[in-house]
Amino acid sequence: MDLTHRPRRLRQDRVRDLVSETTLEPTDFVAPVFVDATTDERIEIESMPGHERVPIDEAVDRVEEVLETGVEAVMLFGIPIAKDPEGTRAWADDGVVQEATRRIVAETDAYVITDVCLCEYTDHGHCGTLEEELRTDADDAHATCTVDNDATLESLEKIAVSHAAAGADMVAPSGMMDGMVGAIRGALDREGFENVPVMSYAAKYESAFYGPFRDAADGAPAFGDRRHYQMDPANAREAIREVALDVEEGADVLMVKPALPYLDVVSSLRREFDHPIAAYNVSGEYAMLHAAAEKGWLDVEETALESLLSIKRAGADLILTYFAEDVAARL
Ligand code: PBG
Repeated sequence: MDLTHRPRRLRQDRVRDLVSETTLEPTDFVAPVFVDATTDERIEIESMPGHERVPIDEAVDRVEEVLETGVEAVMLFGIPIAKDPEGTRAWADDGVVQEATRRIVAETDAYVITDVCLCEYTDHGHCGTLEEELRTDADDAHATCTVDNDATLESLEKIAVSHAAAGADMVAPSGMMDGMVGAIRGALDREGFENVPVMSYAAKYESAFYGPFRDAADGAPAFGDRRHYQMDPANAREAIREVALDVEEGADVLMVKPALPYLDVVSSLRREFDHPIAAYNVSGEYAMLHAAAEKGWLDVEETALESLLSIKRAGADLILTYFAEDVAARL
């Protein structure tokens, strides 16, 4: 046989690693952590095996568990003590994320990123204040549910500032309101937090893969869905336009969410922008591998590793993932 090209030559042991194009490090990962102001003991999240909501008193312990695996960054989500139509507990000085952040920053070396959104804090579960005519009539809201963009920006500014004041290292607005990055950047700068970066959930799709998270963080919309603010899964070009706006408004890190079903978007943003690209390997992506593994149909460790490698290969610099601790411990 006279074959000039034999790609298998480089697939032999000992040379495979020399020519591998992509590697994963524990420092690529951000581990989501759920802090729950309504409990004084840890509560397992059924649809996300291995994850728990922890009371404020255990937030530091929980973060220390993450740090032990080599992962250095956490993303904090809060379940507040009470909810109301405006989500006012989201910017309370003694709010769940503010309190947990103060303790984590004081007692650990973790890099603390906070999710800046309202859906866990509003009683209707939407990511902001509802438009006036919908506030009273749930039937009408169900049909056309729309969040009041500009009123919500004011809330997001207050949340971001309160997180930074509590010591958050980075804030991550996830509500998909127009102008949210610019509003938050301006508010942080006015309050003296010009060194706190903004990681925008820049291309966040209206995805069914968030299901388990909504159990975990108790942030499911009470009616309607999020299609009037999160992106349509059909659109890839729109992601470039949407993300370009966040860049103009001062976003430091650009996130795509979910990750696996949107790797084309990760890849095109990687080519289009010089900013660090983050990908959020969401709750449903985690839950489905665990569910299949429970049935004995997949090996969760191998498929998790391959998933994260694929996300990195597509162009992500950092990955938010519920697999962070498990995979980091194996690397
Ligand atoms: C909004 C937010 C959501 C997630 C992260 N931030 C929920 C949503 O948009 O409905 C989902 C994360 C996941 O599914 O893992 N605060």
